Amino acid sequence: MTVIYQSDCNRLTVYENPGNGAVESVAEEIRQGLCEEQKRVPCKYFYDAAGSKLFERICNLPEYYQTRMEMELLNEHGPEIMDGFSHGDIVELGSGANWKIRKLVTSIDHRRRAGLRYVPVDISHSALIEASSDMLEMYPDMNIMGIVTDFTRNLDRLERERPKLILFLGGTIGNLDENEAQEFLECVAGSMRDDDRFLLGADMIKPAKILEAAYNDSAGVTGLFNKNILTVINRELDADFDHSLFVHRAFYDPRLERVEMHLEACEDMEVEIAGAGIEVAIMSGETIRTEICRKFSRVSLERMVRSAGLRVDRWYTNDDRWFSLTELVKR
Ligand code: SAH
Ligand code: AVI
Repeated sequence: MTVIYQSDCNRLTVYENPGNGAVESVAEEIRQGLCEEQKRVPCKYFYDAAGSKLFERICNLPEYYQTRMEMELLNEHGPEIMDGFSHGDIVELGSGANWKIRKLVTSIDHRRRAGLRYVPVDISHSALIEASSDMLEMYPDMNIMGIVTDFTRNLDRLERERPKLILFLGGTIGNLDENEAQEFLECVAGSMRDDDRFLLGADMIKPAKILEAAYNDSAGVTGLFNKNILTVINRELDADFDHSLFVHRAFYDPRLERVEMHLEACEDMEVEIAGAGIEVAIMSGETIRTEICRKFSRVSLERMVRSAGLRVDRWYTNDDRWFSLTELVKR
């Protein structure tokens, strides 16, 4: 791994895998997805600097209940979650603006914090560096080692020498399909020692009306976030997607228990993606699926983690069971 950022005080170092985001691998993923019958683009491409900021705006929308609820759960159960953990790494996968770790860290006193190292892992280097730098100022007693990487690919690099509390929050597990989630959870379990803990945030099944409102906010921010993926592809692969020819669509599919986000073409078009060496014909009314957001029941969640070799140790949810935090250990 290469050092891409070091703070003046030396308490923050950020690493990146060489080859991370390499044009050939981006091109291959985009080419594959756009050649399928249901065209699709991996949702990790939402998160350049602008996409990360748009996601922060989504978190504050009145319709997007998930962030508020998870923060409430962390507020209420932070001391329990942190109980007994005073030495080791807090590894946060998909750390984003890392608001949530602050809830946990604030729930312990500064002497305990000094024994902890925070390890945020995110694909968005701008979000990671900005949020980690803010944390340095807030917690002068903590060291931070950031890793800019794709968490579905490079988890084998997580350290096993020190005890770990792993966080995967925000319901991001729902953005992985069944196979991806299975593989990801197995990798996380494989990186854990017997005394490590894994805190998983998941969004729960609820009436379609509430789910659809959360992904079709009245201010239109989710639509901007959705279309940002076209800006990223245009920039990374020298493509010529025209945003104005697409509309944002998001709906709940109760059979698959997931929200799907799409971009729907308003007219027939040919898009050139020079960096991937392809031209793609898109017909009016056709969609590109940009994200799936799976919703869980306690039963489906337990089934998923069990088959990855994990066991539910503690389970936290709010009165209406809209969001859950699960503390997992190895089976
Ligand atoms: N955990 C935060 C952010 C959730 S948004 C919260 O709960 O609010 C999802 C985060 O995961 C973003 O910061 C995005 O950049 C990151 N991300 C998405 N796909 C990723 C991938 N494949 N590898 C690494 N990070 C990813
Ligand atoms: C990051 N992830 C959990 C969000 C979600 O709800 O699936 C991303 C998002 N997409 C649209 N709004 C928010």
